[in-house]
Amino acid sequence: MSNRHPHTVSHSISSPKAPPIMLDRTLSSRRSQPHLDFEFPSPAASSAVSPVPESPTSLADESKTKKPPLYLLATNYISRFGLVKSPCLCLSLCLLLIVFTLFSLLLNSRSFVCVSSYDPISRVSLFGLDGVDSDFGSLGVPWCRSKHGKTVEWTSKDLINGLEEFVPIYETRPIKNNLYGMGFDHSFGLWFITRRLKPDIMIESGAFKGHSTWVLRQAMPDTPIISLTPRHPEKYLKKGPAYVDGNCTYFAGKDFVDFGSVDWEKVLKIHGISDFSRVLVFFDDHQNELKRLKQALKAGFHHLVFEDNYDTGTGDHYSLRQICDQFYIRGGGHSCFKDSDEARIRSKRKKFWEKAVDIDELCGPHEAWWGVRGEMRDNFNHNKTTISYGEHFQNSRFVESILDVYWELPPTAGPSLTHQSRYDPGRAPPPIVEDGRYRMFQRLGLDRLERSVFNGYTQMVYLQISKPESWKYPESDLV
Ligand SMILES: C[S@@+](CC[C@H](N)C(=O)[O-])C[C@H]1O[C@@H](n2cnc3c(N)ncnc32)[C@H](O)[C@@H]1O
Repeated sequence: MSNRHPHTVSHSISSPKAPPIMLDRTLSSRRSQPHLDFEFPSPAASSAVSPVPESPTSLADESKTKKPPLYLLATNYISRFGLVKSPCLCLSLCLLLIVFTLFSLLLNSRSFVCVSSYDPISRVSLFGLDGVDSDFGSLGVPWCRSKHGKTVEWTSKDLINGLEEFVPIYETRPIKNNLYGMGFDHSFGLWFITRRLKPDIMIESGAFKGHSTWVLRQAMPDTPIISLTPRHPEKYLKKGPAYVDGNCTYFAGKDFVDFGSVDWEKVLKIHGISDFSRVLVFFDDHQNELKRLKQALKAGFHHLVFEDNYDTGTGDHYSLRQICDQFYIRGGGHSCFKDSDEARIRSKRKKFWEKAVDIDELCGPHEAWWGVRGEMRDNFNHNKTTISYGEHFQNSRFVESILDVYWELPPTAGPSLTHQSRYDPGRAPPPIVEDGRYRMFQRLGLDRLERSVFNGYTQMVYLQISKPESWKYPESDLV
């Protein structure tokens, strides 16, 4: 399949000729996490989306008790003295107010200067004294729009309850150091999504030593798995920990077949599966996600999870996040102008967040910022195809035309809690456990985990595909 000539959706939308520029005002925009209705589109819908059993809710409620900043408290307090007649007292109170205000502003101000995440003084200037309020989403968080604005049914409370349940499970993982594989955030995300969907079978593309197979197994103890991965996880057992599942069909080693070349009807029939809307497909194989999406659509799958949903300018394959980074989305579309606000802010953030990209890294030849410097990357960076902005734009129109749900997993917790210093919060949705909520972090058991497990967040995404009847392009385009 050629990726150079993506689909043209039948409702023609002319693509802008010049790359659009992200407006500076979008730099400070935030995207709220949508929590609307979502149903598994099958007759067994009720069992498919039955909620995770409730666990104590006190942890969730605690997040609502965020303390107001000091200067606001001081202002409110002093305003009560409005009736005081003494000029001396009034003057003293005014001075006190000014001192309080300056002190509080100082503590709550955010600077993007070069600071180390382990330096307490720098952390105070970045996060404030109590560590609250880092700047999630301040650079904008692009996302793929769905046709009807549908989203998932789960809430942040469900995510918190899920964390409480998952931490002890994660602590029993067989592969403790999963370098190059999933860390905590995405392990939780995959487990949580799988538990909510309750599929009849799970397909995984890209298993490495088998950690993600183990996560799927924790979510669904009796459900079959099909795993496609060039090297069988058992091969890793010779050198150290790995996970091989007893109820998993491996297309690995000499039996390896790429996801796009499998006759899925035939394979799933062997497993007694005919309803493809009851299948969950998980991709962690570092392939162009547009290619994988088209292959999944062609096969008839509806529920997809992509592990590495890289931000624009980063990663080794074209991702959904990159595809939907468009000027009409908050935080989408970029300017390669070196004196722009975006360039200035990015260069400051780069000094603090390892994976942040500055404008030089973001922009390739001819000011091409989309994908990675104007390239659609594939297969661990082995294939790089230069695409025009028009092609990139059409890719997003195509994706949006077949989507019912696009949901990015939020990071587990703010960096003042996890001490992660890799992903840039400015490009991420607000975390499940906000900065400053140390007691909640502790109560969920997250403080027991090594810091390094929080370093792998790359915006894992869950996609629900709409019914083919509503697609607005010929299915032959999928070939
Ligand atoms: C990042 S690792 C997967 C990590 C794993 N999911 C985990 O959580 O530990 C990527 C894996 O994709 C495999 N891979 C490479 N090409 C692939 C392909 N075409 N299809 C499926 N897997 C592929 C690699 O061999 C590697 O095992």
